[in-house]
Amino acid sequence: MRLDTKKLRAYYADAPQDISLDDVDLEAIPSHVSIIMDGNGRWATARGLDRSRGHVAGVDSLREAVTTSVRLGLDVLSVYAFSTENWRRPQREVDLLMHLFATTLVKELPLFHQENVRLRFLGDIDVLPERTRTVFQRGLDETADHTGMTFALAVNYGARSEIARAARELARSVASGELSVDDVNEDALSARLYTAGLPDPDLLIRTSGEMRLSNYLLWQLAYTEFYVTPVLWPDFSRWDFLRAVASYQGRSRRFGGVMSS
Ligand code: IPE
Ligand code: IPE
Ligand code: MG
Repeated sequence: MRLDTKKLRAYYADAPQDISLDDVDLEAIPSHVSIIMDGNGRWATARGLDRSRGHVAGVDSLREAVTTSVRLGLDVLSVYAFSTENWRRPQREVDLLMHLFATTLVKELPLFHQENVRLRFLGDIDVLPERTRTVFQRGLDETADHTGMTFALAVNYGARSEIARAARELARSVASGELSVDDVNEDALSARLYTAGLPDPDLLIRTSGEMRLSNYLLWQLAYTEFYVTPVLWPDFSRWDFLRAVASYQGRSRRFGGVMSS
């Protein structure tokens, strides 16, 4: 995506001491960054607040992450917002999250218009509460023509169920004679994942220090660089984003080969 350097410099104008735009190579910004937004509950608990307050605060971080991604010229930002396992949480917390997804999306639609951001969802959103589903569909419809960054929100997403679903679809196509068994390959499976058509993430960020994937993008992360930060999601800022990108740029991605000198 094209980078508006002037806008980007203004966005990062007041640099803290330890990181600045000069620490990253603007020619080598990752195309797809994915984030496991974790630590909302701990952020709230540490302040003696209800966990829900952490989720509300997390929305501000997400808005900033979207803007940062646009300013940095990413092609895709994807974020893990609700896993297939998160239904195990207390009903009150689940209800709050579903409500928050709906209200936030309505509130942020002008930002998506202004920044030409196209929305898409990863996960089975058909089973979400009706209002959330309706708002999500509205978001999809209203941003379908946008040609800028893709923002992919993973809601009711689980990687194992995603892969099983893709396998089921392949089996169905083979059974109906549409597809031959020999055509069941990596591309055919990728094309049936929720991420069909998107490049694999170059960089995965997980906040709050947890060193696990929690059933996120198991297929797509095969060669992704990981960056885990102890920063809790509600505290994650544009500067933390920059730190992650700088760390990513310091890696040598070999994809199984050897370094070219
Ligand atoms: C991430 O924060 C948000 C969601 C999973 C929806 P958590 O709610 O998992 O926060 P912690 O991990 O309990 O601190
Ligand atoms: C992963 O976080 C899911 C999201 C961020 C939406 P969790 O907090 O649910 O993951 P675990 O339970 O610590 O593995
Ligand atoms: Mg968590």
